[in-house]
Amino acid sequence: MAADKTMMPPRPNLFDFHGVSMVHYFTDNWEKIQNFQARPDDILIATYPKAGTTWVSYILDLLYFSQTQPDRQTSTPIHDRVPFLEITSFPNHPSGTDLADNLVTSPRLIKTHLPVQMVPKSFWEQKCRVVYVARNAKDNAVSYYHFDRMNVGQPEPGDWNSFLQRFMDGKMVFGSWFDHVTGWWEKKQSHPKIHYMFFEDMVEDTGREINKLCSFLGLTSTTKEKEQIRHQSQFDNMKKDDMANYSTVEVMDFKISPFMRKGKVGDWKNHFTVAQNEQFDEDYKKKMKNTTLQFRTVV
Ligand code: PPS
Repeated sequence: MAADKTMMPPRPNLFDFHGVSMVHYFTDNWEKIQNFQARPDDILIATYPKAGTTWVSYILDLLYFSQTQPDRQTSTPIHDRVPFLEITSFPNHPSGTDLADNLVTSPRLIKTHLPVQMVPKSFWEQKCRVVYVARNAKDNAVSYYHFDRMNVGQPEPGDWNSFLQRFMDGKMVFGSWFDHVTGWWEKKQSHPKIHYMFFEDMVEDTGREINKLCSFLGLTSTTKEKEQIRHQSQFDNMKKDDMANYSTVEVMDFKISPFMRKGKVGDWKNHFTVAQNEQFDEDYKKKMKNTTLQFRTVV
């Protein structure tokens, strides 16, 4: 399924798509995405990019299938086990909707970075459960910056300072972090089937968060199974696992930065200057003044 770097067109440009910055890989064939038919037992994993998508996908896949299909985890990369809905025109890559349509598992685990207003309506009509993962803006921005440096499927990141400015302005693929996390937070108030979780909580106590996921999903995994999944999904173990670390995806140049990069809370302190931090805090206060949503930037 990997796309060959040498076959890749130049890096894509950002453009405005219904008020959200996007690249064409996720908007070509938009009707196919919007008309996607969800099933009632589908589980949608929704995130802003770099918030912990792969980590939670990996955990859910283990929770549902490690007992019944143990070979699955060793034979199929996580991005094929849990397809990315809105990939529709990536070179040498099947469309996410086709991958999802062809999944034979029940439930199907499907992931998306779409802001809440763009999610195909069938997910709401079918009353699907959604696991949303959010990550504090500073670490999220740092992780996104390194991802854009090493992934030729993303726009050129420029230098850190200009990237951070664009992050604050919401000119990122999948739009504004602020709109994304608050949009999903508001949706959760009216939609009981959204489990809203935080990357920082996962780092602080993965076992506790796995228990919460099990309660939300009605899973009865044993203490021993959950402990094994907690262990398997620790950063160092996932980093070693070629089915989880994206090493099979050739658009990513790990010599520039690995996909499983640091997995920490607080790496932003190694990137933000004092001036950038002050400006960011000022802007953050204004953009987040109308929400009850709170993040931690240290644990
Ligand atoms: S993507 O490309 O949007 O799907 O990326 P995503 O998976 O959302 O986020 C990647 C970041 O998550 C970190 N990660 C983890 N951290 C801690 N523990 C585990 N097990 C784990 N798995 C993934 C990954 O390292 C990226 O964060 P940074 O800060 O760049 O290291």
